[in-house]
Amino acid sequence: MASDQRIQTPEQASLTKGGDPLWYKDAVIYQLHVKGFRDSTRDGYGDFNGLIEKLDYIQSLGVTALWLLPFYPSPLRDDGYDIADYRAINPRYGTMKDFRRFVKAAHDRDIRVITELVINHTSDQHAWFQAARRAPPGSQKRNYYVWSDSDEKYKGARIIFTDSEKSNWTWDPVAKQYFWHRFFYHQPDLNFDNRNVRRAVLKIMKYWLDMGVDGLRLDAVPYLIERDGTNCENLPETHQVLKEMRAEMDAHYSGRLFLAEANQWPIDVRPYFGDGDECQMAFHFPLMPRMYMALRREDATPIIDILRQTPEIPQSCQWAIFLRNHDELTLEMVSDEERDYMYREYATDPLMRINVGIRRRLAPLLGNGRRQIELMNALLFTMPGTPVVYYGDEIGMGDNVYLGDRNGVRTPMQWTGDRNAGFSEADTAALYSPIISDPPYGYQSVNVEAQDRTSTSLLAWMRRVIKLRKQYKAFGRGTFEILPLANRKILAYLRQYQNEVILVVACLSRFSQAAELNLSRFAGSQLIELFGETPFPIITEMPYLLTFAPHGFYMFRIERPNVG
Ligand code: GLC
Repeated sequence: MASDQRIQTPEQASLTKGGDPLWYKDAVIYQLHVKGFRDSTRDGYGDFNGLIEKLDYIQSLGVTALWLLPFYPSPLRDDGYDIADYRAINPRYGTMKDFRRFVKAAHDRDIRVITELVINHTSDQHAWFQAARRAPPGSQKRNYYVWSDSDEKYKGARIIFTDSEKSNWTWDPVAKQYFWHRFFYHQPDLNFDNRNVRRAVLKIMKYWLDMGVDGLRLDAVPYLIERDGTNCENLPETHQVLKEMRAEMDAHYSGRLFLAEANQWPIDVRPYFGDGDECQMAFHFPLMPRMYMALRREDATPIIDILRQTPEIPQSCQWAIFLRNHDELTLEMVSDEERDYMYREYATDPLMRINVGIRRRLAPLLGNGRRQIELMNALLFTMPGTPVVYYGDEIGMGDNVYLGDRNGVRTPMQWTGDRNAGFSEADTAALYSPIISDPPYGYQSVNVEAQDRTSTSLLAWMRRVIKLRKQYKAFGRGTFEILPLANRKILAYLRQYQNEVILVVACLSRFSQAAELNLSRFAGSQLIELFGETPFPIITEMPYLLTFAPHGFYMFRIERPNVG
């Protein structure tokens, strides 16, 4: 089908007008939970109309895409990843009409919308599961899910939620069989060997794409298929499913996106890009903990090692990189020794740990150090990939480790120092979650309004760095080259795209440092520091000396001399 015949909403047509199907390469993504952003109905839960009210704020940040956590009807035992109905909106968050209004309002501001396609599993409250457990064994309906008479099958599959689950099988007294689940026992896995399941999933995908959604995050995608004698992750049949989905997307839509959540080693994530015929984007999970490790060890090696191990990806594809998200800071993709180190350094209180990870937000992880927060964000915005910012981290929000599960990093957005942080006018006791209210992260001081009124605030700096990022295509599209340095406390890399050459140099140490860079290939060119447009000395054949304040960093443009 010719691309002009493919389905686009009018706003989408204007977004891509003269526009680029590779928009996600230059994107800055902001991740948020509708529930946690702004409550417009005084029921204590955020909603789509509240989110629409706050689109001006989101636009002022400079981000170009929103990723919304699940907002579908759900018993909310996994914060909405336990979906009971794929085609509706959780009534607490609004109506379908509100959702459409939201998509239009976001598109009017040139902001794309990425939603969740959670297909590995449903809630046990989903009508499919309720029908399956009552249907005769072996029937089409029963086979929407994965059943067994024993809990001995697929022993090679690890348990993911190690804190709450003992087995990937749970006995269903109605079906009188065990059902398979990679996550909570109330989240049965769909059976992708069943053609009807695959068809149903394609329909759901199209349902949301028809609504104008620009991208779909494919939740927990490595686990779609089970096979005995394997670890049931990343199987070839899983990739086949993804190729089918992508072909269907490409046949009917243009400029849309799949973003894979595959918490795996780079080499195992690589196939999720296929030959450019599976997902356009995938999260780079192993990079994230290594950024924290490098910072605390004051040694660039962990970052350099993992980026060296990261394979090339097809030209149309892109990594998604992040510092934090709605889950625990996962430590699945590090060695045992590194995991111990991370727990020791970043999760001293056992309450901070959950499953194989750490349930804390960015600011508390970094001891609320402004320089450290800026440094980590500077890396996030300049390393290869599209940055994803987790709501609240742009103002340095704190967490609450006393809340269950991962809820401590999902507390309401802090807008003002007023009642309920300006999040809601409901009774405080009615809020879906307590607001962070103790020093130093309490909403009385950490809030958008206060930071809007302070020119040196973290929020002001975040706006600045996002703006800078968007001025240079090299960050989203450029090549990446690490510059070897004698001083391992310094990380230096080049990003190049067409005529743009960017040099980033970052000091991971809490003390002042100096480093000599070999920039001789640019001899005669000049370094221009990007934040201040400050000219630095001309590069010569000699080593280029830079000195750093603790946790200091530079982003330079390398400018060839103007000849003639
Ligand atoms: C994904 C989500 C996580 C959820 C899990 C199971 O990993 O990011 O929040 O708990 O899937 O649904």
